[in-house]
Amino acid sequence: MSQPLAGKPLRGLIIAIDGPAAAGKSTLAKRLARELNYVYVDTGAMYRALAWRVMEEGIDPGDEKELGRILQQMRIRLVEHAGQLRVLLNEVDVTEQIRAPEVSQMASKVSTLKVVRDRMVELQRAMGSQGGVVAEGRDIGTVVFPVADVKIYLDASPEERARRRFAELRSQGKQVTLEETLEEMKERDRRDQERAVAPLRKAENALVVDSSRLGAEAVVEQVMREIKNKLRAI
Ligand code: DC
Repeated sequence: MSQPLAGKPLRGLIIAIDGPAAAGKSTLAKRLARELNYVYVDTGAMYRALAWRVMEEGIDPGDEKELGRILQQMRIRLVEHAGQLRVLLNEVDVTEQIRAPEVSQMASKVSTLKVVRDRMVELQRAMGSQGGVVAEGRDIGTVVFPVADVKIYLDASPEERARRRFAELRSQGKQVTLEETLEEMKERDRRDQERAVAPLRKAENALVVDSSRLGAEAVVEQVMREIKNKLRAI
């Protein structure tokens, strides 16, 4: 594992991680946050929480007015509990529910709307404004924190990403096939990359890391090297 950052007072950096579904962003972000003692902001979980509420209330995901109403009433909290990130929606724990494949698709749909993105970006900026944050999503380095100190674009082949997501879903007892998982992921990638507002895109100055053939540990080490270089330069 990487060396501790001894002797260097940590100014709270902003670390932005973007990339497509199941590229390993959460694993990387959690590890970095733990190593640096930073706050971890899973922005996808916030869009998922909204999507879950939309499904619970049976709302049309294209109805901006209704979404605006829900956004007004929503309070999302990301809290750490027993070493795990829990997602609270109006104080109800929805951590497990929001990982269902239907919620992934709905999150991808509602996140195309400007009314939704404007509110989420506002919340996310408030969470990271003090620095000392690792935020991951699709638009962190491009829109939420264009001034981030370190920007990572984490990628992997669609087949490898689908295999990972499939294994994760099966371990949770979900009855899905690898083919379905791959198709759903490609559909979501396409929507996330082609939407008009804040599409998934590599930030100009982002370091691209391809995790297709790298283990989680190797990815963490590569990114920690980048962070240490940044800290040394401050
Ligand atoms: O990272 P994730 O798979 O949990 O994200 C779920 C969906 O939320 C994703 O398909 C698109 C949307 N999303 C987004 O538009 N912008 C972000 N910063 C994070 C997620």
